[in-house]
Amino acid sequence: MKIIKIWAITFSPTRTSKKSIEALAAGITGVPCETIDLTYPGKTHHQEFGPDELVIFGVPVYAGRVAPMAVQRLAALKGNNTPAVVSVTYGNRAYEDALVELRDLARQTSFKPISACAFIGEHSYSGADTPIAPGRPDSADLSAAASFGSLIGAKLAALATPDDTACPEIPGNVPYRDGVGPMPCTPTLLEDACTQCGTCVDSCPSGAVSLQERIIIDKSSCILCCACVKNCPEKALMIDFEPLNQRRRAMAEQLTQRREPELYL
Ligand SMILES: Cc1cc2nc3c(=O)[nH]c(=O)nc-3n(C[C@H](O)[C@H](O)[C@H](O)COP(=O)(O)O)c2cc1C
Repeated sequence: MKIIKIWAITFSPTRTSKKSIEALAAGITGVPCETIDLTYPGKTHHQEFGPDELVIFGVPVYAGRVAPMAVQRLAALKGNNTPAVVSVTYGNRAYEDALVELRDLARQTSFKPISACAFIGEHSYSGADTPIAPGRPDSADLSAAASFGSLIGAKLAALATPDDTACPEIPGNVPYRDGVGPMPCTPTLLEDACTQCGTCVDSCPSGAVSLQERIIIDKSSCILCCACVKNCPEKALMIDFEPLNQRRRAMAEQLTQRREPELYL
């Protein structure tokens, strides 16, 4: 079948999911590609897709599930038997039921998942003292993503319609495991270091960070994705909550074995 346009659609607070699917999309040569970034609130996007387009969904794993805010934002999109690649990115621990959940979400909105993959991204809670998959996806990951894209391009070219293929078997269970609960803390602001540049406000996917007299983080809407922490040019935001810091240290100690991308053509 002939694909006339590729859409890389992502929710990606710390940008690792976005990098992985953009590399995948670039591996499918000869078809124009556009990214739809659902990460930031209040933006309008193209929402309906046709049977001769290919959509690549790329979202992060939170607690072995699709990040809840990604679920909300993806729900507004609509396919029309549109072939889709479902891709999750996780922080070198595990992705558990997230890929199955993303496949099901795509089907519920009339997309037709034909391939799936799981990539590794630097963990949201990785830091200088607690490195967890630092620098992932790296050049080896991105080249694996591009090669997989090229195989997907060949697979599509060999099909007459998306109905001529089924989504391959992928790991994960239904019913899904419990996802993230309420967040126990927000990042802490080091007032003396903050220059009120507003980078944290712009990088927050949930609108939880605002600049009033000072930077305020609303606990009820913070998803603890750490985009503000990672993007602050002054390192003025940090996690200062001991139970979470204990968990970060434990993950940095335990998750040292490199996991590789899993590709389901
Ligand atoms: C609340 C929360 C829960 C997470 N749960 C998991 C998990 O279950 N397994 C895992 O390996 N990584 C987990 N991570 C790490 C992210 O999946 C990982 O850093 C991913 O690369 C983030 O994607 P993004 O850069 O597109 O935001 C979690 C991160 C957050 C913020």
